[in-house]
Amino acid sequence: MKSLYECTSLNFSYQLDKQTVEALKDVELKVEAGEQLLIMGPSGSGKSTLLNLLGLIEPVQSGEIMFEGQAFSKLSEKEKNHIRRYKIGFIFQSFLLFEVLTAAENVEYFLTRQGLSTGERNKRVAAALDAVGISAQANKRPPEMSGGQRQRVAIARALAKHPAVIIADEPTASLDSKTSRDILEVLQSLRTQGVSVIMSSHDPLAQSYASRIVHIMDGTMQNGKGAGV
Ligand SMILES: Nc1ncnc2c1ncn2[C@@H]1O[C@H](COP(=O)(O)OP(=O)(O)OP(=O)(O)O)[C@@H](O)[C@H]1O
Ligand SMILES: [Mg+2]
Repeated sequence: MKSLYECTSLNFSYQLDKQTVEALKDVELKVEAGEQLLIMGPSGSGKSTLLNLLGLIEPVQSGEIMFEGQAFSKLSEKEKNHIRRYKIGFIFQSFLLFEVLTAAENVEYFLTRQGLSTGERNKRVAAALDAVGISAQANKRPPEMSGGQRQRVAIARALAKHPAVIIADEPTASLDSKTSRDILEVLQSLRTQGVSVIMSSHDPLAQSYASRIVHIMDGTMQNGKGAGV
């Protein structure tokens, strides 16, 4: 069985004027399907950079990421788009919802590009809203919702794709602790549906919801090579 992800010698740097910021240094990380992996590290340690690479938001600069046995560096733009569209659900800290669309429309938005019938789309939207516990808010727009409800819509939107993995970058960072627990429970419940979750956080609360924790510091995985064993 192929691993969900296998990262080898991953390096990534940002160019800021004449300065180079090395955000990831020689990162090795293997993630198996079905894991609920938590990436912990202080601010600026490289969590978002790593998740952006895993989510095909930033390109691999050096090293390699294998996703279900496919090397990202060898994929065409079309193949990458296919993975973004069908395989990866990305959840951002700031939700990134469309303010003018209702919760249900936000969830449906990405499905319109998947070539699904209207019936199948409606079924998936209803199931995803139900899975995150906000069916009653389906017709509300984000400005009429609480932070926790908005994050649930963002999770439902990722979930409705039926992705292989949900990547969540500090999904609880802007939420109070009670709402954070609710959101972590929602993410944890996805495991029972066979969805792998990779999440970043510097909130200790997240630890008890993970099946495995890896630590990153100054762009370097702390658990040694093959981090997180
Ligand atoms: N667009 C950018 N341009 C230049 N440097 C960047 C950029 N994005 C991130 N960095 C730098 O790269 C390093 C890693 O940043 P990253 O955003 O991955 O950290 P993080 O662990 O997600 O932090 P936080 O917990 O604050 O979200 C930091 O030193 C950061 O300043
Ligand atoms: Mg970040």
